[in-house]
Amino acid sequence: MSSEKPRRRPSAASAAPKLRNADGVVPDDFYRDMVWTLRNGVVGVTRDGRIAVMNEIAYRVLGLKPRASDIGRPFAEVLKDVPDVLRIIAGAFEVSHLPNRAELRLKTTGKVIGYTLSLVKDPRGRDVGATLFFKDLTRVEQLEERERLRDRLAALGEMAAAIAHEVKNPLAGIEVMAGILKRQLPESQDAQNILADIIKEAKMANVIVQEVLAFVRPIRLEVEDVSLSDVITDAIAMAESHERRGAAQVTVDVPESLRPIQGDPHQLRQIFRNLLTNAFEAMNGTGGVAITALAVDGDEETGPEHGTGPTVVVTVADTGPGIPLDVMDRIFSPFFTTKPQGSGLGLAIVRKIVDAHDGRIDVSERAGGGTVFRVTLPVRSPQQLFAS
Ligand SMILES: Nc1ncnc2c1ncn2[C@@H]1O[C@H](COP(=O)(O)OP(=O)(O)OP(=O)(O)O)[C@@H](O)[C@H]1O
Ligand SMILES: [Mg+2]
Repeated sequence: MSSEKPRRRPSAASAAPKLRNADGVVPDDFYRDMVWTLRNGVVGVTRDGRIAVMNEIAYRVLGLKPRASDIGRPFAEVLKDVPDVLRIIAGAFEVSHLPNRAELRLKTTGKVIGYTLSLVKDPRGRDVGATLFFKDLTRVEQLEERERLRDRLAALGEMAAAIAHEVKNPLAGIEVMAGILKRQLPESQDAQNILADIIKEAKMANVIVQEVLAFVRPIRLEVEDVSLSDVITDAIAMAESHERRGAAQVTVDVPESLRPIQGDPHQLRQIFRNLLTNAFEAMNGTGGVAITALAVDGDEETGPEHGTGPTVVVTVADTGPGIPLDVMDRIFSPFFTTKPQGSGLGLAIVRKIVDAHDGRIDVSERAGGGTVFRVTLPVRSPQQLFAS
């Protein structure tokens, strides 16, 4: 056995003073600026329950307004509007296991945060405060949700493609044979009527089969600089030729200064064509639909710190009857429809194209009745982002 005394590991308490040697070398402001501009949220409280530090991201993610006077105030007051967070911090000095990389959905904003709670120790090892360190995981959650949806669609798509393929030939056969029979029975008006119906129905079924096949085929984007203003103008004309708009008004508000975005013009037209067709169908010849486009510096919701780059947000708001809340989360699923003649693929295709452009689509109720679809598209295609 060695007689050497076991070397003591430096404790947090004895390591801290060494770090303090940085005092004087690094200006005090540096620490303040560093914490304020961290890309994660930080809330530090003292042992007697006061806010010692709270940075910009923390305010933003928690949905609170930054106020200089918050420093030194009881955290129970400052955080009273985010009771979930308040509870976690309040438990810091009581719990035996501090949460590490735990997750929480904030009831107030619906955002999901991943957080770690640590105690602040003084050089003698006493607990003098606690720090909550957290990150907004909402975007990550959305991406995971998208991934799950993609998997579901892939499985569903394969099945649909197989069925569509099987049905295509018999359908064509029905149409051709009904045509032959129609020519062979010119004198029977009844037979002529029935056969005309058969041909019409077969043609309709064929359109659905073509739509399904178009939907399940993978999208290959032909990316170029696209003027959204042109895309929207074309989409309005396309939607009008498909669905009678009647007396419904269409207003477009796209700033002239809006720069082109990188995307596939044909696919982008399809997005707005489908949204507008739905709007016209919902409004049934009255009311109005307003289309607006706006350039946004970063991703409107998650902020520029997520590296999303500039985006354009296009909203399509109609004054129709709105979408009942209980069907809201199904409208993007393929084949979900409430219309007797609908195939339920319109919005599924929209979502697929938006995804292919690395964008996002949300739907909400319009204040005063109706529906608002909001499409967020990156100005630059993902490939371009990486190239620059
Ligand atoms: N602007 C809207 N107002 C009210 N309900 C809407 C609106 N847009 C979509 N919906 C609802 O969402 C459902 C799905 O829309 P989607 O465009 O995917 O299919 P569809 O319009 O029924 O059929 P398809 O577009 O394939 O002809 C619609 O049946 C309708 O119930
Ligand atoms: Mg539709």
